[in-house]
Amino acid sequence: MIWEQAPDYDQLSARAASLLLDSIRANPQIVLGLPTGKTPTGMYERVVRDCEREYHCFKDVTTFNLDEYVGIPKEHDGSYATYMKRVLFDHIDIDPSHTHIPNGMSHNLEFECRRYEAEIDDAGGIDLTFLGLGRNGHIAFNEPGTPFRSRTRVVDLSESTRAANAAYFPDGNVPSQAITMGIATIMASKRIVLLATGSGKQEAIARLRSRQISVDFPASVLWTHPNVHVLVA
Ligand code: GLP
Repeated sequence: MIWEQAPDYDQLSARAASLLLDSIRANPQIVLGLPTGKTPTGMYERVVRDCEREYHCFKDVTTFNLDEYVGIPKEHDGSYATYMKRVLFDHIDIDPSHTHIPNGMSHNLEFECRRYEAEIDDAGGIDLTFLGLGRNGHIAFNEPGTPFRSRTRVVDLSESTRAANAAYFPDGNVPSQAITMGIATIMASKRIVLLATGSGKQEAIARLRSRQISVDFPASVLWTHPNVHVLVA
């Protein structure tokens, strides 16, 4: 595991953006796993800015988002589909048919989870996944206690995770479930970059750094992956 400390959020975002764009330069048909949340927005802003200069960055790229809320239409302001359009997809030359986000409005959620895993397989697996870090160590929506063998599935969100995301649902209807890639799905990615920043994350960062691998702290599983880069600020 490579640990890299950036002096501030701006430089963390710049470094993350250059890792992302370098990976596309090295493999223009790369398959990316992408996160949502506050942490990666600076990275996406940089990527968009750099792609204005160097167009065609995303022409042949395929993306799979980590997760999506259940019961929230993709047009809703709080959906991860809207987030991805707003911060990235609407500003780059990606083919919309190459972008994948679980459909939390599916009438058959279990089928949707299996379908999502099959889509990842059909794309040849994920080459590089970016992750954020929850305060309780969650990755994607895999909360503490999640078995490391878990695959894409429907999960109940913890009260702390719902509270952390409540601002995106000003009407108070904060979703209680999500579809998330499982821990094994994430770990199958050939390479992983985890981003963590801010005073609220320092305890989680310290716990990750302590190298104690436990299902009680999902991100700790990353110590068992051969190619992980942790970027903190
Ligand atoms: C949510 C997302 C995670 C994200 C986490 C931290 O729960 N499902 O993928 O990593 O929040 O988000 P933030 O970067 O806003 O702190």
